Amino acid sequence: MPVVYDLTSDTATQPTDDMFDLMKTASRGDDVFSQDESVHELEKYMADLLGHEAALFGTSGTMTNQLGLRCWLLHPPQSVLCDSRAHVHVYECGGIAYHSQAAVTPVVASNGLYLTKEDVEAHISTDTLCGAPTKVISLENTLNGTIMPIEEIARISKLARSRGIKMHLDGARLFEASQATGVSMKEYGQHFDSVSVCLSKGAGAPIGSILISDTTTIQHSRHLRKLMGGGWRQAGPLAKVALHCIQTIVPTMPQTHKLTRRLADGLTDLGFRLLIPCHTNMLFMDFKPLPSVAVLAEPLLAQGIKISSTPGATICRIVLHYQVTAEAVDCFLRVATDIAGKYKIVPALGDEDSAICSRSSSVASSVTDLSAAYPSVQ
Ligand SMILES: Cc1ncc(COP(=O)(O)O)c(C=O)c1O
Repeated sequence: MPVVYDLTSDTATQPTDDMFDLMKTASRGDDVFSQDESVHELEKYMADLLGHEAALFGTSGTMTNQLGLRCWLLHPPQSVLCDSRAHVHVYECGGIAYHSQAAVTPVVASNGLYLTKEDVEAHISTDTLCGAPTKVISLENTLNGTIMPIEEIARISKLARSRGIKMHLDGARLFEASQATGVSMKEYGQHFDSVSVCLSKGAGAPIGSILISDTTTIQHSRHLRKLMGGGWRQAGPLAKVALHCIQTIVPTMPQTHKLTRRLADGLTDLGFRLLIPCHTNMLFMDFKPLPSVAVLAEPLLAQGIKISSTPGATICRIVLHYQVTAEAVDCFLRVATDIAGKYKIVPALGDEDSAICSRSSSVASSVTDLSAAYPSVQ
């Protein structure tokens, strides 16, 4: 059975025929020389959306994160303070050390979910003799699909500004947070000096990510993008599609969040456990007492539904996006019900309370190790 629904990541969305048609209408200028209208249109739209002066369209979230951070890390020795699970620290090939010659201070979120001002304050380095002073605080929202409260972002940002520290946001999935909370992109944007937003995740664009900041920083990032080999020529068709996706797919995210919640509730009702709260389009499930995720992944694949399955692991990240339908979720739950029956699984506490508890807790007690839940390629 071919894969019809790929739930391994929201990067798995497939470009549609409409998108290819739209590409034909794009301008065909050279973006290395900043001469493409469709790219300009996208960059201006995103700069306005976040309430900043300028933006740079780039190939990937890794590139726009690293460019943003590099722009602030001009005088080594310095450091970046971030969540211990942050993508910029764990999944960007050590890019902060490589591109910026900076150290990383990974901080464990004391509430198990998101960094607080107190977590950050306790780890800021001001040691200009033997340390690497904190130059940037880099936050991530959403992180593992969970939303960082705007109030906490504001507290951290106020602290950073009072200490002359730059604020960067890995907003790979900021659209998800904004759509789920109703907090505008602009309101998030005001707390940061630079923001990276991915267009090829839940927004559904085939390629691209964007860095938003002030005009001088964006000019610098354009120069650094060329240095990294990321100067792309006729990028207009990609920009045209990306803008279309922002305007048409992003508003559908609340439906995806509802479906994700339905899947979470269905799976917890069967006796499987949510490892962290489900706020947006991601689920981290523990399928114990099944012997491994594979026991479920195989029959799902036979129905055209693909989930990640690390050999021997019982935990799994499941990600929904706009191309996952209600029928796919129903089918997933039918297969899971069948497997739960075969393995005689019952809800952990045997009553509704257990499911409600695991569904609604907003704060985890400690940071859960979710590494085995990720696909090897995200
Ligand atoms: C939170 C986060 N930031 C950044 C990235 C990097 O994006 P890309 O894969 O486009 O480099 C990812 C990719 O999965 C991500 O999940």
